[in-house]
Amino acid sequence: MVDPTNKTPDNKVSPPERQYPDPKAKLKKDPPTTGHSWDGIEEYDNPMPRWWLWTFYLTIIWAVIYMILYPAWPMVTRATSGILGYSTRGEVAAEIARFDQQNQVWFDRLVETDLDDIRADGELQSFAVNAGAAVFRAQCSQCHGTGGAGVQASGFPNLLDDEWIWGGTMEDIHETVRYGIRNEDHVDARWSAMPAFGQDGILEEDEIDQVVHYVLRLSGQQADATLASAGEEIYLANCASCHGDSGEGDSFVGAPALNSAIWLYGGTYEDIRYSVVNSRFGIMPGFAGRLRDAEIRAVASYVHQLGGGQ
Ligand code: HEC
Ligand code: HEC
Repeated sequence: MVDPTNKTPDNKVSPPERQYPDPKAKLKKDPPTTGHSWDGIEEYDNPMPRWWLWTFYLTIIWAVIYMILYPAWPMVTRATSGILGYSTRGEVAAEIARFDQQNQVWFDRLVETDLDDIRADGELQSFAVNAGAAVFRAQCSQCHGTGGAGVQASGFPNLLDDEWIWGGTMEDIHETVRYGIRNEDHVDARWSAMPAFGQDGILEEDEIDQVVHYVLRLSGQQADATLASAGEEIYLANCASCHGDSGEGDSFVGAPALNSAIWLYGGTYEDIRYSVVNSRFGIMPGFAGRLRDAEIRAVASYVHQLGGGQ
């Protein structure tokens, strides 16, 4: 309704209100729907934004170019190779070859240097120990433990202490690693066999009992005095030839010392008894042929400096 009292500032009666069409009305019109309807909720059929569409086309073009250049489609035995001839395996091989080449000078020096002189050459020693640690992790840790502490329950000796079954000089360690221990695959492997005194009926039950008590006493443990005294004679007759008159061991036949607190298989009455009755016959593989000479020297250097090298 026009209110005649409603004057404009220039004192004229305002014109009657007019209905103009809303200029935005056209834009607000609902876009077409896809025709889907879920409980009355409908889906607009808007076109994709242009930037999105173009990105999408670009990815398709990229994919086609990629498939031409790089390995892409899986076939029966291998994927299509792509015209660039690229392969991740090839890349790794090239990287390894590059490092090998870098290290070759060092490997050569390691092979040319006398085992006992490696230590004196600071740079070479540090290369050997680092390279040896890597070899150790890959080849030895499954038996001797990551840190070299060994696993007594399985007869894998501790390499950190200074008690050596087969000798702890660089020369000794190198030989052990190269040929192995009781390793049938190499004629130069370290070899010896303790008789199975119980199984093979060499000693009677009570004799075994006596000699075990004697070994307990040798190693400074609690032992039955009468049994141990009776065991001494049995020990000297049957064991001293390998383990030494006072149980000091003999690295020539790989007989562990029995007069210390360090045990390969364990030092309780039961452990010692088991060793005497059955013998143990621990086996270590040899690494000649499996590792390069330089790697064997490196890992020997690493083990030698772990703590107990002689
Ligand atoms: C399959 C298990 C196994 C692997 C792998 C192995 N060892 Fe051994 N190693 C043994 C056993 C078992 C013995 C002790 C054998 C015995 O004398 O009774 C031993 C003994 C040794 C000894 C002698 C210790 C001593 O007191 O004289 C050295 C040194 C040694 N290993 C170093 C290595 C190095 C280095 C590697 C890796 C290149 C390696 N071992 C890999 C099982 C293994
Ligand atoms: C022919 C040499 C030989 C004779 C003889 C021998 N031993 Fe041994 N003994 C060894 C060797 C080698 C080992 C190392 C274990 C193995 O791999 O068989 C060993 C291991 C042992 C062990 C385990 C040591 C440990 O650290 O766990 C005990 C205990 C032992 N012997 C006691 C005896 C007693 C007791 C006798 C005598 C009744 C005896 N041995 C006779 C060679 C011998």
